[in-house]
Amino acid sequence: MFYREYSDLDDEGRYYRFNVSRGLGQIAIEEARRQDQVTAATRLYIEAQGTFRQVKSCAKSLTGRNVNVCEDHVAMKILNSKYKVSFDLKGVPICQKFVPRPNDMDFIEKSLLPTPVTDDTDDIGRKVCILHGLGGMGKTQLGVAFVRKHKEEFTAIFWLEGRSKDTLMRSLAGCAKRIPEGQIPSTSRTADLSNESAIEEAVRHVRAWLERPDNTDWLLVFDNVDKDHLAENPDEDAYDVLDYVPGDHGSVLITTRLETLQELGDALGLRKVDDELSKAMFEKWYGKPLGEYA
Ligand SMILES: Nc1ncnc2c1ncn2[C@@H]1O[C@H](COP(=O)(O)OP(=O)(O)O)[C@@H](O)[C@H]1O
Ligand SMILES: [Mg+2]
Repeated sequence: MFYREYSDLDDEGRYYRFNVSRGLGQIAIEEARRQDQVTAATRLYIEAQGTFRQVKSCAKSLTGRNVNVCEDHVAMKILNSKYKVSFDLKGVPICQKFVPRPNDMDFIEKSLLPTPVTDDTDDIGRKVCILHGLGGMGKTQLGVAFVRKHKEEFTAIFWLEGRSKDTLMRSLAGCAKRIPEGQIPSTSRTADLSNESAIEEAVRHVRAWLERPDNTDWLLVFDNVDKDHLAENPDEDAYDVLDYVPGDHGSVLITTRLETLQELGDALGLRKVDDELSKAMFEKWYGKPLGEYA
């Protein structure tokens, strides 16, 4: 009725009607206590691309400002996800005097970042990026810089110490306690990480959680995967990293000295930094331009 009478308001971009169409029909007013259901249905409605676009254009007409629908939609989807895990890089070595490496960062971003949703289909499939090169080339620090810069673009980021099979298993098992309650058996959230079978069980549960079909926006970093399980006399700590990459979705960043891992995804070889970058590093570390030492 209202719409028919005042359709000119719509033509001028001044009429917006928001109505959670499905899922709430059966809930009468006295049942408003069923908050969970109301919240879930409302969330689904708001997150639908069409509704979100309308909310944006309504906001734009109220504030007069233009807003980037695609990027904001990704950000909102991540923030509201039931799989959101708070960001934590405890135990990860972070270099305080990091000098940006824009070209290398660009490569990782193109490889791993979720592409903005353009219609109702989400990005599917697994994304893998490999940073390889000799020890000390800055692979780990570049990985740290990437996750710090883009922490809002993933629902969960787990940093895994891939130096050996043992450290990897421990890191994976340690993820369990960060997963939202109720989504993983509580025994694994409180698992004793000095007990091998408890670790194995927790790893199984974490893996199953990462493999849930609707839990697709996480990032796993396998750092320092340096031991070659295919070597002639493989170290007993060496392992095949593919055995630990869960499911067929999500994003994976691997830092490694092993050239052979290049085949697993988009590979970037890190060599010695060029003159310009090494000058910038020197200046950052010593606080003075290089010329002053000549
Ligand atoms: N972009 C950078 N800016 C400044 N220092 C860096 C940078 N990358 C690496 N470093 C320094 O070099 C060291 C080795 O880097 P790291 O990332 O651990 O190498 P890799 O993982 O390739 O063995 C770091 O501890 C840090 O001190
Ligand atoms: Mg490293």
